Amino acid sequence: MKHQFAFLLLAGLAVAAEEKRDGGKDEGYALYNFLDDKMARITILVLGCMAAFVYVWQLASRFSGHLRRLASLTNDRQRFFLLPDMRIARLKEHLLYAPLFRTRHNREFQLSRAVGMGTLPSRFHSLLLLGLVVMNVVVCVVTVPYPKPQKTVAAVLRNRTGTIATINLIPLLIMAGRNNPLIPLLRVSFDTWNLLHRWLARIVVLESVAHMLFWMVDKVQEEGGWPVVQKSIKGSELILTGLVAVIAFVALALHSFSALRHAFYETFLHVHILLVIAAMGFLWVHLKEFPQQTYVLVALIAWGLERFARFAILLYRNLGNGITTAVVEALPGDAMRITVKMARPWNFEPGQHMYLYMPSVGLWTSHPFSVAWSQAEEIYTDEKGLVQTRQDVLAFQKATISLLVRRRTGFTDKLYQRAERSVGGTVSLKAFAEGPYGSIHSLDSYGTVLMFAGGVGITHHIPFIRHLVAGHADGTVAARRVTLVWVIQSPEHLEWIRPWMTSILGMERRRDVLRILLFITRPRNTREIQSPSSTVQMYPGRPNIGALVDMEAENQIGAMGVMVCGNGSLSDDVRRVCRKRQTSSHIDYIEESFTW
Ligand SMILES: Cc1cc2nc3c(=O)[nH]c(=O)nc-3n(C[C@H](O)[C@H](O)[C@H](O)COP(=O)(O)OP(=O)(O)OC[C@H]3O[C@@H](n4cnc5c(N)ncnc54)[C@H](O)[C@@H]3O)c2cc1C
Ligand SMILES: *[C@@H]1O[C@H](CO)[C@@H](O)[C@H](O)[C@H]1NC(C)=O
Repeated sequence: MKHQFAFLLLAGLAVAAEEKRDGGKDEGYALYNFLDDKMARITILVLGCMAAFVYVWQLASRFSGHLRRLASLTNDRQRFFLLPDMRIARLKEHLLYAPLFRTRHNREFQLSRAVGMGTLPSRFHSLLLLGLVVMNVVVCVVTVPYPKPQKTVAAVLRNRTGTIATINLIPLLIMAGRNNPLIPLLRVSFDTWNLLHRWLARIVVLESVAHMLFWMVDKVQEEGGWPVVQKSIKGSELILTGLVAVIAFVALALHSFSALRHAFYETFLHVHILLVIAAMGFLWVHLKEFPQQTYVLVALIAWGLERFARFAILLYRNLGNGITTAVVEALPGDAMRITVKMARPWNFEPGQHMYLYMPSVGLWTSHPFSVAWSQAEEIYTDEKGLVQTRQDVLAFQKATISLLVRRRTGFTDKLYQRAERSVGGTVSLKAFAEGPYGSIHSLDSYGTVLMFAGGVGITHHIPFIRHLVAGHADGTVAARRVTLVWVIQSPEHLEWIRPWMTSILGMERRRDVLRILLFITRPRNTREIQSPSSTVQMYPGRPNIGALVDMEAENQIGAMGVMVCGNGSLSDDVRRVCRKRQTSSHIDYIEESFTW
């Protein structure tokens, strides 16, 4: 289904890129119009080729993962997968896993404790972004007839920058959507698309400003003097709407700075959408008589489809048998456990997240949360919805989905207060769930799995642990050693996942695979630190990540997958350690950051 959708989208892109050449009235300029069109097409083509390359790469790595998994099922000797392929190891060490400089990647740059300046893209991502910038510069300036005739140069650049800015709107809007079909197809996460979205948007803004400036230069040269420029701004709908659209684009760029975006996310989102609508509206009128309007149309259709998909998913998920409700339970250490009773059965895979809407707390806003636990229960009713015995009734499955949520300062804060004020610290509210999203990683082919979690990041790992322990017991995964390292501030935080952990610890053959190391960074006294058993150990302080990875590497079975979900500095540490060991054994590094 998602594949068909993607191809449909690609076909749409091709048609857009295939826009017929517009001769124009002026014979002499027809060539430039043709070239503009060609450059627009090349832009889409290059992006398409990049996507195709990623697709093939991912297909190959999935295939090798699949083979590895199959090989480890029948044969317990996974030694063959222990050593890395040197070329791929170097590629991972120096490009794919490498931060731009030294070790910093996810830890935020901060002006003060309150104002973050954002994170640095990785080396690979930086290269990608550089490619995007270079490509745009090239398609904007190539084939322009420098240096003479000067008049033509400004006019050609004006037309070119305008055309390229509009064609870029198509990938720009596709990248912004949570239902972007390229996420499952290319296995590229939403946060990477988001990064590309931001950079492409900056490029579009610069192109639209350049478009305006070249128009002015042309106007001044052609007709002599600024009064003409002023007159056309007042007198022409084309120019006026264009100017307003440029202003909206610049405003979009200015209000999207990382610090502002993260500090006031909801406000940001609403202002962002309104500004986009304004910009697109004025652009639409601006392009009334130009073939480039088609590009805007395609971009708008892509955006509309995404919105429609969200709405359809929301309706489908929440209007089944009854409606969705959520029980919110306040826990010690500013966290809450949310159990969503779904209106329909829902199968979750590890690593997926969903968006939660709670109108009574957050109105129409939605927030992403990883699914920590899901359970299906059979419920028997007759047609009137009364619960009956097994005979003569319609049986249907109901699913509950549990989340672990850390209290922050917006929606999650209000929700926490709501729960805390209620009797027993628990409140039941109407909710809507939208999903599932994500799930682009599989750990099934690793003989050795090492997971690092900081605080509430544990919620991302729980389903993987459950899946691997179950898979180990029934022989469907490669995992022979699974180690969880969880860093928390105080032992009371263990309560967050107690019911799920109890269930995992009681699973069949769990002791053969799973080991848990708990690190308590701020114990009140040493008596609190007690190791419950040999497979669940508790230590005071922070983990020595290098030593832990070394220990696993020494006893490594098969390939090793290292997954981390926590704050930026934990991720950066694990990333550094994994990079350093690339050439000595096969280690894959997987990161989830809970932010974009
Ligand atoms: C894929 C993913 C999975 C996540 N899983 C979990 C989880 O399992 N448990 C958990 O506690 N948290 C999780 N988060 C983080 C969680 O979404 C935010 O903490 C929550 O939305 C904050 O809401 P708030 O209004 O209280 O935020 P604020 O206090 O206003 O902001 C806190 C931070 O959350 C970000 N944020 C706020 N609203 C949103 C939004 N609608 N979408 C995206 N980011 C937002 C802000 O940019 C800011 O950095 C996840 C985030 C992502 C992207
Ligand atoms: C710029 O585009 C307009 C509208 O398509 C066209 O009429 C004009 O000839 C073009 N000028 C140049 C220099 O390409």
